[in-house]
Amino acid sequence: MARLTSREQSDGTRKIEWARDRMAILREAGKEIKKSGALSGLRVGMALHVEAKTAVLALTLQEVGAKVTLAGCNPLSTDDAVAEALRDEFGMDVHARRGVDTEEYYANLRRVAQARPQIAIDDGGDVTKLVHEDASLLKDLQGICEETTTGVVRARAMHAAGKLRVPLIDINGAQMKHLFDNRYGTGQSAIDGLLRATNLTLAGKFFVVAGYGWCGRGIAMRARGMGCRVGVAEIDPVRAVEAHFDGFEVGPLGELATRADFIVTATGNTDVVAGDVIDRLKDGVILANAGHFNVEISIPDLERRAKEVKPKRLHLTEYTLKGGRRAYLVSEGRLVNLAAGEGHPVEVMDASFSVQALCAAHLARHSRDLGPGVHAVPSPVDERVARLALQAAAIDIDALTPRQRAYLASFEEGT
Ligand code: NAI
Repeated sequence: MARLTSREQSDGTRKIEWARDRMAILREAGKEIKKSGALSGLRVGMALHVEAKTAVLALTLQEVGAKVTLAGCNPLSTDDAVAEALRDEFGMDVHARRGVDTEEYYANLRRVAQARPQIAIDDGGDVTKLVHEDASLLKDLQGICEETTTGVVRARAMHAAGKLRVPLIDINGAQMKHLFDNRYGTGQSAIDGLLRATNLTLAGKFFVVAGYGWCGRGIAMRARGMGCRVGVAEIDPVRAVEAHFDGFEVGPLGELATRADFIVTATGNTDVVAGDVIDRLKDGVILANAGHFNVEISIPDLERRAKEVKPKRLHLTEYTLKGGRRAYLVSEGRLVNLAAGEGHPVEVMDASFSVQALCAAHLARHSRDLGPGVHAVPSPVDERVARLALQAAAIDIDALTPRQRAYLASFEEGT
């Protein structure tokens, strides 16, 4: 990627360069893809959070020869300076602006679909749905890489209904994605978003996490690290037991809510903080969501119960409820780490987006053999990204000896 030499670099370009210089895995992956020529000349349509790390992925794909069209996958997560730099300084076809309404949001996604991508990179499943609504947009599409849990859930539902017409790779299922991105990425960046939104102390507070999946585990772990007492609400009994043995207080959300200073949802589900949970909220509670869509905290239920709604700080809306209790909603219930923060840390996205880039190249080569359906990330991709991640962190590991390899493959006894 050409380095801009001008002293007059824009804010967006500086942000992109900061990230790019720290994304060594993606740099290597880009070199490998370029050498193979897999994406050369292909139209790649992307719907991702348009910020600096995404820009590095988009520029990497552009540099290996793809023609990229990019839109945002959330109305509040676009970094306008980055979008502008991609458009003006790197000549990319970008359709994203922070704070778009629903109409503009979908119009932007339609621009991606209408560019008739041969490979789509989606986050949340909106582009996948749009291209399936018009057969002409599907004609050239060889496959889709889906970034997040919610998008994969939607793709599986489409496939079960017989509606998925192309291969879709479950990027989220890669170990080098969900183990680190969902857990440590969301863990750190959700806390960052909360701090920026509130400027309050976390230590000593009762912090409740709804959903103890990959994201929830990370948020609970990092909240504890900040000195919070942490409670967990789950509906899956095994994950509830896991949270218990991890040392957290586990209970129904309605009960935990009566004492919570912070509640963060990370379930991928709808109406989690809703109805009678809202009736039991403690005065002053901060409500935030880390799940993909802004349906986890019911805004209609908050509004129905509110005597007054007013903006309180940047990123914070105050709802005055029955009896004068106040609840503060962060960033309209949209992904707290992206809407109030800058998203996942760079090194985490380096791994996730390397999986994306290598899988896009894999789709371009193997689309026919894969066929319509949801496919796992090939294990060599996971291993390659892990090895590059170790190399980037200057960490060496041992290798099996031939004797050990043979032992593990045999019925040999231990005595
Ligand atoms: P996951 O499937 O590992 O975990 C979700 C957990 O929520 C499960 O354990 C499930 O049993 C639980 N759950 C479902 N309904 C519930 C309810 N009503 N009450 C309590 N618990 C409930 O999913 P993962 O990977 O943790 O993702 C969660 C959401 O976060 C998804 O929407 C995903 O797309 C999104 N995500 C957001 C990121 C971000 O940057 N903020 C990054 C990665 C994923």
